[in-house]
Amino acid sequence: MNIVSLTQIKVPDSIRQIENSSSARRLIDLGHDRITDFMLSSEETIENFVNCDFHLVDQGISWLQQNHLLTGNRFCELGSGFGVVTLLANDHGMEAIGIEIEPALVEQSVLLAEELDSGVDFYCGSFLPRDMEQLEELASEVEHVDTHQGDIYRQIGLAIDDFDLLFAFPWPGEYGFFESIFDACGASGALLMTYRGRDGVDVVRKS
Ligand SMILES: C[S@@+](CC[C@H](N)C(=O)[O-])C[C@H]1O[C@@H](n2cnc3c(N)ncnc32)[C@H](O)[C@@H]1O
Repeated sequence: MNIVSLTQIKVPDSIRQIENSSSARRLIDLGHDRITDFMLSSEETIENFVNCDFHLVDQGISWLQQNHLLTGNRFCELGSGFGVVTLLANDHGMEAIGIEIEPALVEQSVLLAEELDSGVDFYCGSFLPRDMEQLEELASEVEHVDTHQGDIYRQIGLAIDDFDLLFAFPWPGEYGFFESIFDACGASGALLMTYRGRDGVDVVRKS
């Protein structure tokens, strides 16, 4: 599928020098501890879950805010895993929610939010808009995104184009899939930030 309306925003390497706030550092440390506890105690492996570099993504959000690149304050993490990035966005003053398909991970995010006394909501379901026309065609491109279940937006009361910043950590080779979803369903002016392992964070705007 052709991407028609996304513009790249160059993120400088210097974002790595932005200081994580003390509340973000505390949140990240607690998140790492809880992820380790969960991995050690859980009998089943959740194959599609691996966490991003929380320090770097937090620096990315700071950079977007410091440079006034956001058109609004609503944040959604697509496939929120343990919910740490959603909680970091909330720590940055954003109205943040996370969507995750694995019930065990949603449960862990809710526990983490409670431990941090944060009122952030996590939703169990799919972030893929069910009425997107090209979804079936696109689904063949991904192995690590669950493309079978119906979406959760009605329960949330918001659609994907209500968010100003979307974040995802796609598996390698699946970045284009997320960009296609954002291109087709995101709001004009909104940003998609993806974490790309050694290549850091990538940001595109829908024009
Ligand atoms: C690579 S992990 C990233 C987790 C988290 N965003 C982070 O960066 O730490 C991708 C997550 O997406 C979830 N996922 C896969 N397909 C999904 C879908 N259709 N809807 C919601 N979550 C999904 C997986 O269960 C997994 O937890």
